[in-house]
Amino acid sequence: MSQTSPSSTHNLRADGARLWATIHETARFGGTPKGGINRLTLSAEDGQVRDWFREACEAAGLTVGVDALGTQYALRPGQDMSLPPVAFGSHLDTQPTGGKFDGVLGVLAGLEVMRTLNDAGIGTRAPLLLVNWTNEEGSRFAPAMMASAAYAGDFTTDEILAKRDAAGTTVAEALDAIGYRGGEAVGERAIGAFVELHIEQGPILEAEGKTIGVVEGGQGIAWFDGRIEGFESHAGTTPMPRRRDALLGLSEFALAVERIALAHGPSAVATIGEATILAPSRNVVPGQVAFTLDMRDPRSATLDAMEAELREAAAEIGGRRRMTLALSRIWRKEPVPFDAGVVAAVEAAAEGLGLSRRRIVSGAGHDACNLAGRVPTAMIFVPCKDGVSHNESESATQGDCAAGADVLLQTVLRLAG
Ligand code: GLV
Ligand code: MN
Ligand code: MN
Repeated sequence: MSQTSPSSTHNLRADGARLWATIHETARFGGTPKGGINRLTLSAEDGQVRDWFREACEAAGLTVGVDALGTQYALRPGQDMSLPPVAFGSHLDTQPTGGKFDGVLGVLAGLEVMRTLNDAGIGTRAPLLLVNWTNEEGSRFAPAMMASAAYAGDFTTDEILAKRDAAGTTVAEALDAIGYRGGEAVGERAIGAFVELHIEQGPILEAEGKTIGVVEGGQGIAWFDGRIEGFESHAGTTPMPRRRDALLGLSEFALAVERIALAHGPSAVATIGEATILAPSRNVVPGQVAFTLDMRDPRSATLDAMEAELREAAAEIGGRRRMTLALSRIWRKEPVPFDAGVVAAVEAAAEGLGLSRRRIVSGAGHDACNLAGRVPTAMIFVPCKDGVSHNESESATQGDCAAGADVLLQTVLRLAG
């Protein structure tokens, strides 16, 4: 690859129209009638978009590898192959009511970076590595961001392979079903630095009229499985005071969750995202309810305090209503600061492009938050409409996506030389 002077690389821009076209081209894999995407990790649709991604990367001259958890790595050689690659990417899986941008933007903007460098005939000193991490969303298999966590050494590959979805299918079986259990050992590939472009998924950039979020870190997350055991009884004959209605226990607990998060606000948030009456029947008082709880804050001590208060509330409600409310913490991710050097590279890239920007902390979890435990890492945010994400109506402008891709390109050039 040819050498190019720094001044000509500073003028280099991604092709925003081509990026926009690829975002919409891949949106057909799992596309929903409402214009969103339902592409749960390791589903048939995820297999289809992975195949598309591999072919597009190979057409761009990249060498694609797959690790034992299905993460795809597309390598562009550097002039000095003794250097670890500068990596960038995100995820192609979505929520069941996902949009076209969450994760997708970071992967396809990475592809656009590779294509732009190819078109301009520009080589980098360090190799470049575009990554599509398996199961960022955590909707089908918990926890979220599991493959990047295994990459960073927070879980073993076998622990992740054994995780089951609601139907009892393991990650290993789901990988085999779409042919994406790769041969590379997880974590084997060295990475020199990692940068992830993503939509903000919140309202701050849009409200302040800023194009770029220079992300300084991610907030802490705790996930729980909850179970309430009351007592099933006849809906027509059980007088109201004698009931041990598990759904009413959950209703009270849900209000306690809201009260506790508000009391620790404004940064604290907590959500019961799944709730199921077990053995439901129209004329049976619900006896057993299962639910999930997602709780977040940028401060570790606040997560501790909220958990203690939630457990107290569960005990109080259960005692008063004569039922057990059990909360089991299945995952906790501590708040993560990003690397000052990579954050500065993102800031300098945005400044060089003349883009309005602000420092920001991520409310969502991202693979970058796991990578940060092992590799110098930072993120780039662009606005999304009304701050809405995890919704089929999720939307971002072509101009903001292109600006984000330009910042990614210029950051990567700064880091890779
Ligand atoms: C991932 O989307 C998360 O923040 O839960
Ligand atoms: Mn995401
Ligand atoms: Mn998401």
